Amino acid sequence: MKLKTLLATTAAATLMGAAAMAQTVGFSQIGSESGWRAAETTLTRQQAEERGIDLKFSDAQQKQENQIAAIRSFIAQGVDAILLAPVVATGWDSVLEEAKEAEIPVVLLDRRVDSSDHLYLTAVGSDLVHEGQVAGEWLVNEVNGEDCRVVELQGTTGSSPAIDRKTGFENAIAEADNVEIVRSQTGDFTRSMGKEVMESFLQAENGGADICALYAHNDDMAVGAIQAIKEAGLAPGEDILIVSIDAVPDIFQAMAAGEANATVELTPNMAGPAFDALDAYWADGTMPEKFIQTESKLYTPADDPQGEYDTRKDLGY
Ligand code: AHR
Repeated sequence: MKLKTLLATTAAATLMGAAAMAQTVGFSQIGSESGWRAAETTLTRQQAEERGIDLKFSDAQQKQENQIAAIRSFIAQGVDAILLAPVVATGWDSVLEEAKEAEIPVVLLDRRVDSSDHLYLTAVGSDLVHEGQVAGEWLVNEVNGEDCRVVELQGTTGSSPAIDRKTGFENAIAEADNVEIVRSQTGDFTRSMGKEVMESFLQAENGGADICALYAHNDDMAVGAIQAIKEAGLAPGEDILIVSIDAVPDIFQAMAAGEANATVELTPNMAGPAFDALDAYWADGTMPEKFIQTESKLYTPADDPQGEYDTRKDLGY
């Protein structure tokens, strides 16, 4: 074979090899209920692109049945792996069994399921109980023995963060007789419902005069509630303390304005560790730990909220 022909053939073979190596991953995302969720989607797409992974994205619009249909479609397409951010914790056994039978590894992102862990490769996420605990401990320290009536905005009913963040917060205040949750309702992790439910809390609690603090399971609900508190003529951050979870740019903006007091960070980069685990698995079958934990850090006004806002504002939130 002539040298020119040989080089061309080798180059083509290399390209074909590279194409054959490109992996396809299906991503069943919950929806776009919060700024944090938007950032997780953006970062997952970026991570996939950087690694040459063909990402098939499906937005479930908060519905478990849409997620189950998306997973079945990914299985039918023969993807190399599935990322699943499960909207609720229960009801996944059958579809996870189907993925397992098709030998497609599933990685859970940010939320948990109550299925046996042999049905998925690994779960990437934070310690959700710990997040609630950190929020509760912050409040107990902040009120320093003063009586404090708390209203709670829960996340999506049946989701693991709603269940676990409630448990963690309750654990933290269990010994503090002065701190009590007086009202608790779901705001579905959305800003609009956070505002709506906070309005009803304010009405029921003497126009807000009887509320000492709001604990919101995410920042978006807290931002909606802050709006409701302002419209009721009170000062969020002063008249009513605000503690929430996620560390999205908008909560730092509120903190910089003195309208929010504490947030616990949840990193939106769940895909990085997920793809690392998958790379190792694809390479030689390496099995990751069943839980890959991301960090949870508490931020308060002492942590340069304006600087945090500036750093995060263009990251896809
Ligand atoms: O599962 C993580 C939670 O989901 C985030 O805290 C919340 O903002 C999102 O909707």
